[in-house]
Order: sequence, then C-alpha cells, then structure tokens
Amino acid sequence: MAVTSRTQVGIVGAGPAGLLLSHLLTLAGIDSVLVENRSRAYCEARQRAGMLETGTVELLRSAGVGKRLDAEGIEHDGIYLQFAGERHNLNFRELTGGRTVTIYAQPEIVKDLIARRLADGGAVEFSASDVAVSGITEDRPLLSYTDESGVAHQVSCDVIAGCDGFHGICRPLIPDISVYERSYPFAWLGILADAAPATDELIYSRHEDGFALYSMRSHAVSRLYLQVPPGEPLENWPDDRIWAELNRRFKVNGSDWSVSEGRITDKSVTPMRSFVAAPMRHGRLFLAGDAAHIVPPTGAKGLNLALSDVVVLANALRAALAHADWDLADAYSDTCLDRVWRATHFSWWMTSMLHVNPEADGFDRQLIAQPAQIRDVIAGGGAFPGRELHRLQARPLRPVTALPRWPRPPAYRALEAVFSRLPPAAGDRRLSLVTRHRPLCFPAGPRPTGRWSPVPSLVARHKPPRSSVQAPAGPLAREGLAR
Ligand code: FAD
Ligand code: DHB
Repeated sequence: MAVTSRTQVGIVGAGPAGLLLSHLLTLAGIDSVLVENRSRAYCEARQRAGMLETGTVELLRSAGVGKRLDAEGIEHDGIYLQFAGERHNLNFRELTGGRTVTIYAQPEIVKDLIARRLADGGAVEFSASDVAVSGITEDRPLLSYTDESGVAHQVSCDVIAGCDGFHGICRPLIPDISVYERSYPFAWLGILADAAPATDELIYSRHEDGFALYSMRSHAVSRLYLQVPPGEPLENWPDDRIWAELNRRFKVNGSDWSVSEGRITDKSVTPMRSFVAAPMRHGRLFLAGDAAHIVPPTGAKGLNLALSDVVVLANALRAALAHADWDLADAYSDTCLDRVWRATHFSWWMTSMLHVNPEADGFDRQLIAQPAQIRDVIAGGGAFPGRELHRLQARPLRPVTALPRWPRPPAYRALEAVFSRLPPAAGDRRLSLVTRHRPLCFPAGPRPTGRWSPVPSLVARHKPPRSSVQAPAGPLAREGLAR
C-alpha cells in the first residue's frame, strides 16, 4: 500500500534546475516535493558546468544561496580566443557594459542548494526508484516513487515540474512534442587536474587538429577539454598523450608558454548536441532546463539557460498557485523558448567557429576561416561575440517574490477572509459569484483548485500594468534583483 501525500509542486530531478525551483518556490510560500533517482553524493560530485553569467550570479546571490559563490567564485572580465597560434583577449566587461563571467563549478552550486533545501526542511528524496508521473492533463497530477528504504509513495500535486535532464522521464509524456536536433561529429574529452592554471582567464583555442578549452575550478585546480571523435574510448588517452595534445593545441606562435601539468583526478567524454523540444508545457506538466533543451557546451550556456527557465517557472507557478492567475503559466513555454533559441543559435555558432568538423567541405571551411570574420570576432564586433553575448546577458533573470494585489475595498477583504476559511471547492464556487465585479487573488487563502480563474474578460480589464507585476518585494528585491 503506497503512502499518499499532497503538495503543490512535484519536482522530478535534483540538478541545478530542480533544486533552485524548489528553493524559489519556498521563498514564494509554495510547497514542493523533489524526487531524485541518484544519491546525494552522486549529485554533488557530478562534474559539469563551470562558467556562470552575471545574471546567474546575481540570481543565486539574491536567492540567498550566493555566500560561498561570492567567497570562492573567480570573476573574469573576459576570455581569450586563439586562432592559428595567435591569442587574443576579449573583454566582456567593456563590450557588454559591465557584465563578466564567474568560475564556480556546478557541483558547488548543487551542494549549496541541497544544503539550503535541507536546512529549510525542504522535502527532497534522493536515491528514489520507480519514479513516475501520471494525470498531467487533470487537476491533480500524481508523482509516484519508491523511497530509499523501499516504501512506495504517491504525491498528489497541482503541478509537476520536469527538471530531470535530457534522459529524464517527463519529456516523453508530452504527446506530439516537436523535437529539433543536431548531433555534432565530435565530442569533448574533459579532465580535472591538481594544477594551478597557467592562465588568468579561460582560453578557447581553435587548432587545425581540433578545439581545446583551458578552464579552471580554483587557483589550484585546472579543468581542460579537448575535441575528440564522438564515442572516443578513454583508454586511447593516457595522461601523457592528453598533456602533449593540450600543449600542441594551446601553443602560441613564438612563445614558450605552456599548460601547467598535475595529477589528473577525473576524465570523461561528453557528446555534443543541440536539442530543443517544444512546447515546454502540457497540461499540468512543465519542463525546465536540460529536460527540454541541450546546447553544446562551447558557449557555456546550458546551466545559465536552465536557471533562466526556473525563474520564469517559479514566477508563473507563484501567480497560478497563490493568485489563481494562469497567464504567466500559459506564456511559460513561449517565454522560455525565445531565450532558448537565441542561446541555441549562439552555441551552434560558437561551436562551428571553434571546432574542426571532419565532415566539412571546402565551402564550410572557407566560411569559418575567413580572416575578416575572425577579425570581427576578436574585436567583439560583427556577428559575435560582443553583440550576441550582450543580447543574451542583457536580459537579466528576475525572480518576483510578490505579485500585486488588486486594490480591494474593505467589504471584499472581509468576504475574502470568510471564503479563505471554507474548503477550497466551496470557496471557489462562491467566489466565482462575487468576482463578477472584480477578480480576487488569494495571497494567504486556500490553494486554488483546478484551473479556476475569474471571468476572463474581467481579468483582462482589471489586469494591473506590466510594471506592477514585477514590483519589488521580499528578500530578492531587497537584494536589488527584482525591478
Ligand atoms: P541536470 O543537471 O541533468 O539534472 C537533472 C537531474 O534529474 C539529475 O540529477 C538526474 O539524476 C535527475 N533525473 C533524471 N531522471 C530522473 C528520474 N527518472 N527520476 C528522478 N530524477 C531523475 N552550462 C553552463 O551554463 N556553463 C558551462 O560552463 C557548462 N559547461 C558544461 C560542460 C560539460 C562538459 C557539460 C556536459 C555540460 C556543461 N554545461 C554548462 C551544461 C550544464 O551542465 C547543464 O545544462 C545543467 O546540468 C542543466 O541542469 P538541469 O538541472 O536542467 O539538468
Ligand atoms: C567550462 C565549460 C564550458 O563549456 C565553457 O564554455 C567554459 C567553462 C568549465 O567547465 O569550466
């Protein structure tokens, strides 16, 4: 017999997207249950992203999970781009009016978020099995799973958030979903090494034998990547071969600069893929992050995009579940896909420019290697990166902690107080009678059931101006994030 329970938002996946969503929902007074099929230790150790955009840093800071990021993150003004043995500095701070990038590894963000969820008493189940979602077109979708000790659970939810990454179970539940995909004929071999980085900023190098990226995790740990064929066996890459290849691909003409070597502590091969699934919502199921889209890692957009979805989703769910206003939820997929496609184009462009495509013909090679194009890139003009980066980075992530309350006369407030003590179904029915004159929202009342909303034409007429929808309030606004 399964243990049954009730929550507002059932979240699948404790990656950065699922964890941040449950945290932002808690800040907004909405409860959630988060279910993850891996162990906590596995989630905290999984090596992935390293570079955060300014908007992401501000978001984490304003959500109260930026303390260690501020202490240990390494802020860089820009990056180096290297072509044919010539290394050039690209200063993002100058090109984008003050935006920078920060090195802070994804496992650290995951650790910070897990620690905060547990400290706040959040419901997070690691090492769950048989995770399943059903009833997404009904008012009470079900999240079911078996916990670590073998007990089966069924959680009745208002909404399910599929934050379960590319291989998750949620995306396949959306019928007739459209998928747009590109697999690249190369992969990344990534290493982590106990070696002080020999560079002050990241180096993206295009060499005739393939791409290489010099990144870092701290002043004592380097993170480096090499373009390799897809599905390359790790056995083909003993440590000596990796260091020799890195030194070849980062060699600067006429200089004896070299990569710092050290003990390699982690080695993995990652395939490169662009993937966008649309729409990102069906009924009561919302997808966020890698569950809906993947970009090749060259532009460092994946984690930043995932967290951007989460901000849009947290705001939409707050409006829907605390105020019975589903407009933002209805706009969720289109709002996210707009940014997703910009980032998909950017990442495809940057990947094509910096990698050697074994399938490219002469035409492709000429397009990529035109000196004028490369000059534009290095100067931060032309198609990219200054302009593109600016466009993407200039759209900050703004969590909203409080939606406006329509001005309500005292009689209304009295009625609201009475209705908020009724069981939800009765409250909904009676409210729909009184709200012929003005829509009501329920900041502290019972959860709205179903897709109840006041008479649509009245909603439109009484809708507050856009600016007040984003009015600052609460801890996020105090931190200066909300507009
Ligand atoms: P995930 O991190 O994939 O989390 C999904 C979670 O769901 C996982 O914990 C998974 O175990 C869980 N899950 C899956 N199935 C189930 C199930 N059935 N039940 C329960 N739980 C389930 N992005 C950047 O922005 N900057 C970078 O510098 C960068 N570098 C990268 C370098 C590499 C080599 C790679 C591979 C990626 C990089 N990315 C980067 C991308 C970034 O890591 C991802 O976009 C990010 O992890 C997405 O977060 P997510 O929470 O959406 O998904
Ligand atoms: C890292 C990964 C990236 O894909 C990137 O573009 C920059 C940095 C990293 O892992 O540090």
